Amino acid sequence: CVWTLALTLGAYVVCGIPFGFIIAKRKGHVDVRTVGSGNIGTTNVARSVGKKAAALTLLCDLGKGLVWMLLARWVLAALVFGGDAASLDHTTVFGASLSLVYMGCILGHVFSPFLGFHGGKGIAVGFGAALGLWWPVALGLLAVFLVFAVPSRYVSLGSVCAAASLPIQCALWGFPLISVAPIVVVALVVIWAHRSNIRKLARGEERRFAFHKDGEK
Ligand code: G3P
Repeated sequence: CVWTLALTLGAYVVCGIPFGFIIAKRKGHVDVRTVGSGNIGTTNVARSVGKKAAALTLLCDLGKGLVWMLLARWVLAALVFGGDAASLDHTTVFGASLSLVYMGCILGHVFSPFLGFHGGKGIAVGFGAALGLWWPVALGLLAVFLVFAVPSRYVSLGSVCAAASLPIQCALWGFPLISVAPIVVVALVVIWAHRSNIRKLARGEERRFAFHKDGEK
């Protein structure tokens, strides 16, 4: 419906705000796209600028996804579903509408309209938005991420595995069949955004997580 499409477009624009890029410019005076992995996400801000800038990037990227999804929930519940409690469930068309808005959040971040349709890799925003989509999915994504990222210290490995698990998790939680398309698009886009990481992981050249040290270029 019109509201779902408007919220999806809004998600694209709002989640397109490149907080990592802005924060790295202001706090570290660097264009984060030209250092480290070149990504505008938390991991690269951590390695290129430092802890505080990374924490702020994580908070803002996660926050923009969560806030927009909560707004979408509220708007759809009030204006489309008439507050009918029975229909406000992720297994109904309500869940399908939210999954479309969720896709808008991730596409906005990865293909940011503010950076010439280039952007980040969709992990922090994907987690924040998943909290608003259906919070158990977010917990599942976090669990998969931690299992793969913590022992290896490869953030990208945890990210790719979490993205790959997204459609399975949504299916297990009973999202309606029409949610498959946007959810699969999200998983594929996030994995595609990690293509250089995947190549480096395969060659054993991927960087393990580390914070920026003063004086380091
Ligand atoms: O969230 C992005 C992460 O999975 C990889 O970041 O900077 O190592 O490419 P990076």
